[in-house]
Amino acid sequence: MSLSSLAWAVWYILPAYVANASPVLVGGGRPMDMGRKWRDGKRILGDGKTWRGFFGGIAIGTAFGAFQYLITPSFYGGSFKTALSLAFLLSLGALVGDLVGSFFKRRAGLPRGYPAIGLDQLGFLISALAFAYPVKTIGPGQMIFLLIFTPFLHWGTNYAAYKIGKKEVPW
Ligand code: CTP
Ligand code: MG
Repeated sequence: MSLSSLAWAVWYILPAYVANASPVLVGGGRPMDMGRKWRDGKRILGDGKTWRGFFGGIAIGTAFGAFQYLITPSFYGGSFKTALSLAFLLSLGALVGDLVGSFFKRRAGLPRGYPAIGLDQLGFLISALAFAYPVKTIGPGQMIFLLIFTPFLHWGTNYAAYKIGKKEVPW
């Protein structure tokens, strides 16, 4: 596989990364589960999943798609609508995948912010790829590359968020 096809894979998935990282900066306020518990007595999602983070992440990830269109319109077949719907679905997929991940973490008894290796780094990615599939997809080799590359980026950005005091733990 060529270097440029790997770079295109990263360019393709960027809105999902942006959407996944934005809630750390814009999140807060009312938690999505309103503090309610599941029948196992544990929180449904926990305080780390807020409405502001969810909608803020989708808005910022989608807006990033508009910016991408300005730089590489031909990547989206010259269609602004394609670029925007792709960015929206990647962002929605990333944040829904993140919620599903938190739901399973709470069921497993893991407190908010506790690391779940694999789920934290790849759940949002797999969900984003699935949501965006109908609009535009990438090749299987590019997907495998993203599965390997994403955990490293995820750890890097979480460490940066920890260093600037936006996260309590460096993962
Ligand atoms: N965040 C948010 N709303 C979301 C997702 C994230 O407000 N829908 C914010 C929260 O402040 C959260 C931070 O972004 O603490 C980091 O997100 P993440 O690592 O996904 O949450 P955790 O706090 O680690 O919680 P969990 O254990 O449920 O993953
Ligand atoms: Mg986390």
